[in-house]
Amino acid sequence: MTQTRKWLPSLVNNEVKMVPRVFVLLLSSFGFLEVWSHGGPVSLVQSLDGEWKLWNSNKSLSLPARVPGCVHTALQEQGFIKDPYFRFNDLLYEWISLDNWTYASTFAVSKEVRSKQKVLLVLDGVDTAASIWLNGVSVGHTDNMFRQYVFPVRDLLTGEENVLTVHFLSPVLYAAQKRKAHSAYAVPPECPPDVQKGQCHVNFIRKAQSSFSWDWGPSFPGAGLWKGVRLEAFDLLRLDRFATFPLYDAKHSAWTLVVEMLLDTLQLMNGVQITLDVPELLSRATFSTNVRQGNAKYSFSLSINVSSKVKLWWPNGLGGQPSYRLLITVCSEDGKSLYSVRSKVYFRTVELVQEPIVGSPGLSFYFRINGKPVFLKGSNWIPAHSFQDRVTPDALRELLRSATDANMNVLRVWGGGVYERDAFYDTCDELGLMVWQDFMFACAMYPTDDDFLRTVREEVYQQIWRLKSHPSVIVWSANNENEAALATDWFHIPGWRRSIYLKDYVTLYVNNIMTLVKQEDPSRPFLASSPTNGAESEREGYVADNPYDPRYGDTHFYSYEADCWDWRAFPRARLASEYGFQSWPSLAALLPVSVAEDRSFNSRFADHRQHHLDGNQQMLKQASIHFPLPNSSQPLTRFTHTLYLTQVTQAQCVKTQTEFYRRSRSELLGGLGHTMGALYWQLNDIWQGPSWSSIEFGGKWKMLHYFAVDFFADVLPVAFEDDGELLIYAISDLSQDLKLNVVVSVYKWSDLDPICMLRSKSAAVPGGSAVPVFKRSIAVLLVGCGNCSRLSCLLAFHLEDENGARHGPVNHHFLCSPKDAVGLRPPNITAKVRENETELLVDVESQAIAPFVWLDVGDVEGRFGSNGFLMLSRKKTVAFHARRNTSVTQLSRALTVISLSDLYLP
Ligand SMILES: *[C@@H]1O[C@H](CO)[C@@H](O)[C@H](O)[C@H]1NC(C)=O
Ligand SMILES: *[C@@H]1O[C@H](CO)[C@@H](O)[C@H](O)[C@H]1NC(C)=O
Ligand SMILES: *[C@@H]1O[C@H](CO)[C@@H](O)[C@H](O)[C@H]1NC(C)=O
Ligand SMILES: *[C@@H]1O[C@H](CO)[C@@H](O)[C@H](O)[C@H]1NC(C)=O
Ligand SMILES: *[C@@H]1O[C@H](CO)[C@@H](O)[C@H](O)[C@H]1NC(C)=O
Ligand SMILES: *[C@@H]1O[C@H](CO)[C@@H](O)[C@H](O)[C@H]1NC(C)=O
Ligand SMILES: *[C@@H]1O[C@H](CO)[C@@H](O)[C@H](O)[C@H]1NC(C)=O
Repeated sequence: MTQTRKWLPSLVNNEVKMVPRVFVLLLSSFGFLEVWSHGGPVSLVQSLDGEWKLWNSNKSLSLPARVPGCVHTALQEQGFIKDPYFRFNDLLYEWISLDNWTYASTFAVSKEVRSKQKVLLVLDGVDTAASIWLNGVSVGHTDNMFRQYVFPVRDLLTGEENVLTVHFLSPVLYAAQKRKAHSAYAVPPECPPDVQKGQCHVNFIRKAQSSFSWDWGPSFPGAGLWKGVRLEAFDLLRLDRFATFPLYDAKHSAWTLVVEMLLDTLQLMNGVQITLDVPELLSRATFSTNVRQGNAKYSFSLSINVSSKVKLWWPNGLGGQPSYRLLITVCSEDGKSLYSVRSKVYFRTVELVQEPIVGSPGLSFYFRINGKPVFLKGSNWIPAHSFQDRVTPDALRELLRSATDANMNVLRVWGGGVYERDAFYDTCDELGLMVWQDFMFACAMYPTDDDFLRTVREEVYQQIWRLKSHPSVIVWSANNENEAALATDWFHIPGWRRSIYLKDYVTLYVNNIMTLVKQEDPSRPFLASSPTNGAESEREGYVADNPYDPRYGDTHFYSYEADCWDWRAFPRARLASEYGFQSWPSLAALLPVSVAEDRSFNSRFADHRQHHLDGNQQMLKQASIHFPLPNSSQPLTRFTHTLYLTQVTQAQCVKTQTEFYRRSRSELLGGLGHTMGALYWQLNDIWQGPSWSSIEFGGKWKMLHYFAVDFFADVLPVAFEDDGELLIYAISDLSQDLKLNVVVSVYKWSDLDPICMLRSKSAAVPGGSAVPVFKRSIAVLLVGCGNCSRLSCLLAFHLEDENGARHGPVNHHFLCSPKDAVGLRPPNITAKVRENETELLVDVESQAIAPFVWLDVGDVEGRFGSNGFLMLSRKKTVAFHARRNTSVTQLSRALTVISLSDLYLP
């Protein structure tokens, strides 16, 4: 084999480099894949990424700008604007999205490139409405940020001074123009709620819907070349798209690997030899095919020889994520190698099971991976920044690692953001993080005129091809909440007009998107919306009467008023794909984007950052059900205490609700239950503000995320009360069966030593089940246990096997609100930092029981082994996993510790 090079050096603008003869055709849209050619040049690639020029309409601003990138980032980097996230800058910088911007690049093109028969200009991401000119000639228009655009440009190129310009129309203006042109009828909502301080008509532009504002994020309708730009030149053929997925024939226990290629071919080629090889599975086959002129799809099926030996890809917690190498060589009839592809392939099956349940009026709704029912544990993903070029690979990976480190096995890529970058899905593949992939439509009606459908179809087609090779992607869902919006009439559509919107709904999500999915990706299930009743929605014409029906499909459920410690408020859904509560991020997150006067819960700033109507008041109201509100006379202290208390409240609420869903796995009550998924809203943040996230902007874990480590643990004891009885369930997501008993310790709030311990009989806990293991009247339990009362005592409990080994975390159950607890004393906690050979450690000492002990190290990046915990011992050592080199001194200096009692100290 001749020498191969893995990467082409990216060509900086204005700098001419010869494209090496031996080269890689690097297709940036295939993260998991390498394509290369040896010797004979098939395709040459010249990157046009790097420094471009940028100016606004009247050229009052002119500056260098990086590609990939965006206008806001360029303006900030060149000092024209400050941090867009600072204070009220989202309002101050509104003008940026109202202006038109032009990107321009001047570059030389080698003779070698120009001598090819076909030269394409490939733009992987144009945000959004733009016209593209090369050397003064219009080459095309764009209207969709989620599409790759390809234009033939060979005859426009010259040697030295090529000028490529991309004129962006203000996205806000574009959306308004499109709305105006759609005069036939309104497509609601016209504008976001005032509290979001956003722009109107986002549903008319194929752009991240949250970029015009959301209830957790600012309005920054950006513009720019947010992905790479390049020239691709070739003579014979070009590999346009590539995908591979496994199919399993259960009857014969046989795997087939489907390999698909889209080829752009300049001339008919007979007898092209395509060899597929998975050496580790001793599977190899050569296919001979005639390649037509033009763009066409070619599909090959490789039978896997030793199907029994195939190591399967499993979700996190259920097994490994082994991959295999697939080698593809494409040769001409006379045996000359045209190009080679090397790709990772994974083997797994996915089914969405919706079938009648004995004793229940509805249908089941759960995923089976490799034949095994899997309880989905996870959260919902939103864009990690308003400006995608600001998301570093490191930050992205850290967020995904944070998900699996909290025992999650799934993320839903929510439909109001972006189809994530390749690295996201590659990492999910590697980590065993399943992806519930929405198409990017959210909380709105959408137009269905021809132009709109045409661009959406291309978007959907491309995204399916880009993502279908990923084992992590387990389901396509056509939109977020649009079935519910129509069914429950969010937009007050008069009855006589409803049929228009129903028709549009079916046109877009069923006739177009679903049809494309079925045609291009038969390998995974499709849902027309989330939430949806699934098969039942289909039966009702795709818009069910009540898409939130807990007997069918998935549900989204929010309630901020009811006491979230009371599980009876929650719907016993088949699968909960959204639920949650807001909290504020830490003071450290807010410091860089605020000034002193902002740092109070009643400040204009606190109000401005809150994009959910009454959100700040709702948090306090929910908190005050169980806790006195902080009342320190020091304003800053009161503020940080309030931030902390919102996090405590959120963590407790989501814990209670998640535990409810997990313990409902094996039960049917009144036909409801068999719950098979809990994905709380939301994992991450887009900026520093209050939101439902468990990880704040910058990557720091909120208390909720620490709680998630436990409430998503593979084995978990959960307690709840029903009609005066205490019940404890043992939940196991493991594959093997266990025999467990629960050990309950009764503590007085006033005493670090338990006053009583109870042990249940050993019970069988089958893999993948939730079973009751303990049941006792609370009154009887308390009388029998040291003359305790609800107000003076609390319970801690854990699971043990017959050898006394603990399984899963220690959990606890409060018998009263902490505000009513008798005997809770200031614990006088001290925390000292030291290090052993491998890690930084914090020794925590307490003189009393302390709820919600919170270690905070400001802006030192990293996370604790555990945090927000209930301190039931005098000493506890907690590790700190720093993300950067951090010394003991640094950590000591940054470390503060509080627990609940600190909020009310004089
Ligand atoms: C040019 O445009 C900028 C940004 O929209 C505006 O602030 C400025 O007043 C304009 N200048 C002139 C001379 O029109
Ligand atoms: C942006 O371009 C549109 C269309 O050409 C034009 O109507 C509008 O006035 C321009 N905006 C500015 C700020 O120049
Ligand atoms: C039980 O507790 C009550 C109230 O705290 C107390 O008055 C009573 O003396 C206790 N009885 C015993 C047997 O300790
Ligand atoms: C904490 O310290 C205060 C003041 O020194 C003391 O009064 C209190 O008893 C201590 N708390 C405990 C639980 O020992
Ligand atoms: C350092 O401390 C951690 C946490 O206590 C422990 O797991 C680890 O084994 C220790 N390492 C060494 C080298 O002692
Ligand atoms: C980490 O910090 C220590 C102490 O501050 C220093 O001696 C060491 O060189 C640093 N290591 C790296 C890799 O920066
Ligand atoms: C603060 O709240 C606590 C708990 O409700 C209460 O005990 C204390 O008296 C309050 N302090 C002030 C200054 O209001």
